[in-house]
Amino acid sequence: MSGRGIWKLLAIFVVVLLVGFSVLWMREAKDMGTLRSLLRNGAVNNNWLNVKLAREKHQLRKASTIKPTPRKTFYNLADDIDYSREAVPRLSKPGAISDKIELDYFRYLQNLQFDCRHRIRAGTGETGDGGWEVCLDPPYNMKPGKCLVYSFGISTNWSFDDYMDKTRNCTVHCFDPSIGKKDFKRSPNIYFHNLGISGSNETNDKKWQLYTLGSIKRLLGHENVTLDYLKMDVEWSEWPSLQAMYREGVLSQVKQFALEFHGIPKKQADVDIINKLYELGFRIFYTKRNFYNRANSGLTQRTVYMCMEVHLVNINFLKQDVKSGHRQ
Ligand SMILES: *[C@@H]1O[C@H](CO)[C@@H](O)[C@H](O)[C@H]1NC(C)=O
Ligand SMILES: *[C@@H]1O[C@H](CO)[C@@H](O)[C@H](O)[C@H]1NC(C)=O
Ligand SMILES: *[C@@H]1O[C@H](CO)[C@@H](O)[C@H](O)[C@H]1NC(C)=O
Ligand SMILES: *[C@@H]1O[C@H](CO)[C@@H](O)[C@H](O)[C@H]1NC(C)=O
Repeated sequence: MSGRGIWKLLAIFVVVLLVGFSVLWMREAKDMGTLRSLLRNGAVNNNWLNVKLAREKHQLRKASTIKPTPRKTFYNLADDIDYSREAVPRLSKPGAISDKIELDYFRYLQNLQFDCRHRIRAGTGETGDGGWEVCLDPPYNMKPGKCLVYSFGISTNWSFDDYMDKTRNCTVHCFDPSIGKKDFKRSPNIYFHNLGISGSNETNDKKWQLYTLGSIKRLLGHENVTLDYLKMDVEWSEWPSLQAMYREGVLSQVKQFALEFHGIPKKQADVDIINKLYELGFRIFYTKRNFYNRANSGLTQRTVYMCMEVHLVNINFLKQDVKSGHRQ
């Protein structure tokens, strides 16, 4: 073929491509136009919209950014939310990845992955802050006098820490640099440290001394010691702290992990860390949405829960326990 022939073919190819994209774009624009006018007129139960939403829901389920999409297990808290009613999809940012992440995130965290039969609430507050769920199924059963608990984020509520001390006779190390207290012993079992957790060792602008979990374990002489329960409610610092824990490899020495996630993942790294928790063996056995902290997602206008209290067990301990014959 002559040089000219190739150029001609190329030109035709480009024109076909342009026409194709234009058609796709016009279809999308038309959909968005219809959607906007429907929403303006408040017609939520419109058939066109329902078909669109059903298709979108199906596609989102098919390609979850958070993998593995959990099997339907014992019961499913996500089922009690009708996302198609709550959501105004793609309104501010058509096709935005953030919309997809948002849906995946809430759906994922509310799917239980582990059936803990003996679960108790440690500390007060069935609805508010303060209490946390503890799985007592073996091998997670906080052996009295032999359990070690780290508790990050105390504020004014010691009910969880006191419960782990008094009821389970655990050694509890508490950390909170935000309450202006010096290191002290609250009881023979409870140690308070004027430190906080973060993604690196640093002193922040409020003069709080912050460390990674690995560094704190080293400081306390717990370098290779298993934490029976790690609690973390640290107002958004969980995101960088989790990254550091993963880097340091300290999560393999955590049996139970309860943490409050704040906000919505904004970047791929945030999603990835949730995937990594799964890869490391962590399974969700309880999730509490904080009803007092609902907000409108700026991205999608969906009603979202800004505080998700997620409770996980590390199933690698279950496997080790069975292997070593220490079933009880
Ligand atoms: C801890 O918080 C719970 C729930 O908000 C509350 O009922 C309880 O009184 C608090 N305890 C303390 C010691 O502040
Ligand atoms: C609590 O555990 C310690 C060991 O850490 C033990 O010496 C003590 O007797 C236990 N107390 C109770 C009330 O069981
Ligand atoms: C963080 O601080 C601890 C305690 O001072 C120290 O042992 C550790 O090496 C530090 N880690 C990093 C990454 O700087
Ligand atoms: C912790 O384990 C590592 C790797 O097995 C080892 O090199 C280190 O000496 C241990 N540290 C302590 C304090 O036992």
